[in-house]
Amino acid sequence: MSASPSKLLEVRGLKTYFDVEGRTAKAVDGVSFHINENEVFGLVGESGSGKSVTALSILRLIPNPPGWIEAGEIIFRGKDLLPLPFAEMRRLRGNQISMIFQEPMTALNPVFTVGFQFREAIQHHRAGTSKAEANRMAGELLEMVGVPDGARRLKNYPHQFSGGQRQRIMIAMALALKPSLLIADEPTTALDVTIQSQILDLMLDLREETGHTAILLITHDLAVVAETCERVAVMYGGKIQEISSVEGLFERPLHPYTRGLLRSLPRPDRPRQRRLETIPGIVPSILDFPPGCKFWTRCPEVQERCKTEEPEMREVAPGRFCRCHLVEPGSLDLAPGEEVDAEAGAGPTDATPPGASEATEQPRPKVSEGEASAPKAGVEGGARAEEAARAGAGPATEGAGDGQGAIAGASELPEHLVVVVRPPEEDEDA
Ligand SMILES: Nc1ncnc2c1ncn2[C@@H]1O[C@H](COP(=O)(O)OP(=O)(O)OP(=O)(O)O)[C@@H](O)[C@H]1O
Ligand code: SF4
Ligand SMILES: [Mg+2]
Repeated sequence: MSASPSKLLEVRGLKTYFDVEGRTAKAVDGVSFHINENEVFGLVGESGSGKSVTALSILRLIPNPPGWIEAGEIIFRGKDLLPLPFAEMRRLRGNQISMIFQEPMTALNPVFTVGFQFREAIQHHRAGTSKAEANRMAGELLEMVGVPDGARRLKNYPHQFSGGQRQRIMIAMALALKPSLLIADEPTTALDVTIQSQILDLMLDLREETGHTAILLITHDLAVVAETCERVAVMYGGKIQEISSVEGLFERPLHPYTRGLLRSLPRPDRPRQRRLETIPGIVPSILDFPPGCKFWTRCPEVQERCKTEEPEMREVAPGRFCRCHLVEPGSLDLAPGEEVDAEAGAGPTDATPPGASEATEQPRPKVSEGEASAPKAGVEGGARAEEAARAGAGPATEGAGDGQGAIAGASELPEHLVVVVRPPEEDEDA
């Protein structure tokens, strides 16, 4: 019997709120999940569901104001990150936890050369690395992520690269220090298809090479999830609605929202002229989510109680969690440890959730089942104003365009990415 996987990160009851014109917007509202060592965990959901805010909360990069972490625990290697002193948190960022941001200019400082920013990161976390060695590492990394002539281009500033190249530079920086946890927020959206798969491969190579790196992969793209991840969480309205092995999710999605997402995927086994289905309606504004189930205004299975009673997240089968009144624990009839196999997903039974027979079936070769943490009321409430980053979450950092705000806000950005708080006198050559 193989040993159970060890948890690298556990997010418990995370609540991250924003003040929006005097009203409280609950961008992340009680999110719990865990990621095992060396696992690739996907986080999917439509725009505005709270994926990036979850990621930024893990790194404590929520801009304050207007945001704050209201409650929760973020346990990394057994230690809660939320109460950590800034200095300790900074040591973790880049070194043990790296992030590929959705917007590359969040992470790159426009006023310094790419080479300088690489060296800052490498030399800060790997004391004793010479400038020449750091340059060599940076040049190699740039070539690896598909920036041609990487060593020479270290002398260039971020604006001298295309958008796709900037994305690749940021990816190279995130990989540079072989972190234990790589958070990749839509890492490939700005890239063309061939580069996309190269980048995903690079991330997976890193995981194989270190033997411990786990990846939190945030994406809209369920095909990327199917190819890359082992388990996945589906998010809607600031809450996780379903957690499953990827194989289980594709074979037998339980939550009506997940089923809607899967039905909107193109399928090679269906006639091409068949129009893809979409989830009816639009995501409500963050301030206007309804009471009861967050999804009821768009749910084809909605019942009266859904409009007033918020469903709890429940473990409905080993390793499968779902937040829906209609999906009862035990409804999959799986014995503990049994995988969701093709037979289990083959057709509707009494226990099959309504609409499930329409589910997309895309079996995957590899599955890891595990339990997710139960939601838990978090640490004491209250804004962590002093701890949240002003510049970390905003595109290009506050005022980064003129080179001022990026420096002012740099102290709370991941060090290997941006921390450049003094002029690079000795770096004019790079
Ligand atoms: N600085 C902010 N101030 C106010 N609201 C914010 C702020 N940052 C995020 N939000 C809100 O929090 C909600 C969740 O945003 P988030 O960026 O996490 O979405 P997402 O799931 O990453 O979407 P996408 O797929 O478009 O990247 C959104 O409604 C967003 O408007
Ligand atoms: S709780 Fe009700 S509205 Fe929500 S997903 Fe389930 S059936 Fe739909
Ligand atoms: Mg996002």
